[in-house]
Amino acid sequence: MSGDAETDPQTAIDAVTNDQDERVYEHSAGDEREGIPFVGAGPGDPRLLTVAGRELLADADLVVHAGSLVNSELLAEYCVDAETVSSIGKDLEELIPLMRDAYERGETVVRLHSGDPAIYGAALEQMDALEHEGVPTYIVPGVTSAFAASATLRTQLTLNEVANHVAFTRPQGKTLDEDEDHISEFVGMGDVTTCIYLGTHAVSETMDRLLDDGHDPETPVAAVYHASWPDEDVVEGTIETIGEKLEAAGYRASAMVVIGDAVGGEEYERSFLYGEWANRSSDESADSTGEADD
Ligand SMILES: C[S@@+](CC[C@H](N)C(=O)[O-])C[C@H]1O[C@@H](n2cnc3c(N)ncnc32)[C@H](O)[C@@H]1O
Repeated sequence: MSGDAETDPQTAIDAVTNDQDERVYEHSAGDEREGIPFVGAGPGDPRLLTVAGRELLADADLVVHAGSLVNSELLAEYCVDAETVSSIGKDLEELIPLMRDAYERGETVVRLHSGDPAIYGAALEQMDALEHEGVPTYIVPGVTSAFAASATLRTQLTLNEVANHVAFTRPQGKTLDEDEDHISEFVGMGDVTTCIYLGTHAVSETMDRLLDDGHDPETPVAAVYHASWPDEDVVEGTIETIGEKLEAAGYRASAMVVIGDAVGGEEYERSFLYGEWANRSSDESADSTGEADD
């Protein structure tokens, strides 16, 4: 079972095949299983951690957490008996042996990511590296920051006749090349709510690009800083004004930037869900895909 401390995590990634993992059929999200859970801590407020996540943290001996976006209050409240280690500044070569060795010593290990591990979490590369070394892993979902931001804004990200789609995205930068930045395309679609992660520092540049591309300067934009934290703040504006407003507020990180008409939560049409026809029978309440709105 014991792996080699020198193992290159890239080897583990390269070894992943397309064969479907049988465990996919054996478990549901939320099930407790053998191995190291990759738990979503939620956006910050400890009460927005899931019950499953809280139970796993309560049993943990070692919690490796995502640093500044995981609220220290959550760690203090729920990781009472665990050693807590921040992953900030640690590369995979350090993180994997840390978790693997603790697990192999029989410790209960939890990897705690901010929000949901599946969104800009770089969870899978850690999971694959651990699995490659014989340590099973699984995901316990969390509330992603876009959902906390929509709750703060008291709106929906999808809104009947206003926004039919949601894009979770990030701007170009060190990780994303210019031609991989699709924010302008999402905004151009008109009925998309665009949620920008990892882009607080670059809001002015992003908005300038949108203006250069000819988008309506009046398009609503909100930046929710530290959604659900005690120092949460909301800066509202438009494509034309948000950059300056955010700079004046001094936020360079940790905000969710939401673009689109759904930000204001207005001018929507009532949905079919609570319409007369929808409540006649369960068959009729489903749309052509067989799925009812909720
Ligand atoms: C590395 S990503 C992690 C996202 C996380 N996995 C999630 O699901 O929210 C970090 C970015 O998420 C956003 N973010 C995370 N927590 C936030 C919060 N409480 N309020 C606003 N934005 C947040 C910010 O855009 C930040 O730059």
